[in-house]
Amino acid sequence: MKNNIHAEKILILDFGSQYTQLIARRIRENKVYCEIHPFNLSLAAIRAFQPKGIILSGGPSSVYDKGAPISTPEIYNLGVPVLGICYGMQLMAHQFGGKVAHAAKREYGHADLFIDDARDLFYGLEPGLEKTHPVWMSHGDKVNRLPAGFAPVAHTAHSSIAALRHRERPLFGVQFHPEVAHTSIGNHVLKNFIIRICKIRPRWTMKSFIETTVEAIREKVGPDRVICGLSGGVDSSVVAVLIHKAIGPQLTCIFVNNGMLRKGEPESVRNLFTRHYNIKLADVDASGYFLKQLKGVVDPEVKRRIIGHGFIHIFEKEARRIGKVKYLAQGTLYPDVIESVSFKGPSAVIKTHHNVGGLPEIMKLELIEPLRELFKDEVRKVGLELGMPKDIVYRQPFPGPGLAIRILGEVTAERLAILREADAIVLGEVKKAGLYRKVWQSFAVLLPIKTVGVMGDQRTYEHVIALRVVDSLDAMTADWSKIPYNLLSAISNRIINEVKGVNRVVYDISSKPPSTIEWE
Ligand code: XMP
Repeated sequence: MKNNIHAEKILILDFGSQYTQLIARRIRENKVYCEIHPFNLSLAAIRAFQPKGIILSGGPSSVYDKGAPISTPEIYNLGVPVLGICYGMQLMAHQFGGKVAHAAKREYGHADLFIDDARDLFYGLEPGLEKTHPVWMSHGDKVNRLPAGFAPVAHTAHSSIAALRHRERPLFGVQFHPEVAHTSIGNHVLKNFIIRICKIRPRWTMKSFIETTVEAIREKVGPDRVICGLSGGVDSSVVAVLIHKAIGPQLTCIFVNNGMLRKGEPESVRNLFTRHYNIKLADVDASGYFLKQLKGVVDPEVKRRIIGHGFIHIFEKEARRIGKVKYLAQGTLYPDVIESVSFKGPSAVIKTHHNVGGLPEIMKLELIEPLRELFKDEVRKVGLELGMPKDIVYRQPFPGPGLAIRILGEVTAERLAILREADAIVLGEVKKAGLYRKVWQSFAVLLPIKTVGVMGDQRTYEHVIALRVVDSLDAMTADWSKIPYNLLSAISNRIINEVKGVNRVVYDISSKPPSTIEWE
């Protein structure tokens, strides 16, 4: 293979920091491949991974805690550079015989860093007491006695050892978090580590990813056939286009319209895949089937289950019609496969997110998951690189059960029609205001109550729409978005004037937690 994009890579050992994935994303942004593995990855597995450098993440523990996460000290003898971040640095100091103690004052948030040695990690940055560098701290413990053989390389007002290095070996530690955006020198420091210290040649680009993956798909699939379920979202769309680039007509996509989609969505999926990309598409309108299945159902989890099972049922039927197929393509992403000790967030367990698990076993299909190594931002870059429209590439997340879980109470054709119209107005106005890509999600929810209003001289008694707009980084936590009053007003006026059956609009001002993003 011409350009082995995985040849020179970084291993990140995860000690449970909420920022571990961010470290990986920053490394990848520097065009270097990396993987996250649990802190207790065996030495044999570490050797087999052949990292050119190792990063020890932060974590919530103290090295003195009973059962504190500790990785094998053999990692320091592999001859590859190691960088400890926060807990990672404390662990390194502890394992080399230094002293870690509870800081008298917990350092959280912004701190000013003074660089004492600008040779390696801080190369290119101004050292000395004249110049401060803003960094982000989040720790209760600190290293207060250096282990033998180590030297301090930076300090702050509260930590005399805010960064350290071994005098002879390529072992480094920073107390601050270089991976967060508040640390303005963070990328510089990470880049010094991976490029200067680990001497990695950057070659992880989405263009080379596409070349490598297309070749790998061709080789794996050979003359066989692949099916791929399309949802209209970015992941499955990118999977389809990528596989189509590799094997052309051996791919058939299946699009199940469950009737719970947004206005215009089935048409746009059809247009893009058949007209624009000329991909074989089995396009099934199952909206009547799903509506019938959902009749009388009000429980959110039952709705999810019905839609999940219904999808499998229809998909399987359609797939059999296509004939002999060997592979099923899925848009699994890297965060789904990381065996991480980090906090996964409550939504994974509180709501049974529907997925198509089970399908490959039922149908005896082998899986192809070409995005398994990618973060969402990388998937978007792949999409752009493949020439996909920005509308799809930057689409806000949309739940599998669709509008069904945004209609509180029973889903009926009439209520779907109301929500679909209101939702289209929300999206239209948010886009017009230039906020579509700034907010995480923006949508309408139809409430199961009616309220009194007045229109002309008439008393009305009609539906209420709740508007939900949230800011978030990963959907694990979210805050209601402080969108401008004039946007709220435009949305409300248009919905009440244009959507028959609605006489009131309210704005949801709850954060997650304790609320969730969706209402069901
Ligand atoms: P919550 O409501 O749990 O949502 O704060 C977090 C994120 O997950 C999406 N979501 C779902 N996605 N199937 C999905 O595919 C589901 O059943 C489902 N429920 C919530 C939600 O839109 C948000 O982005």
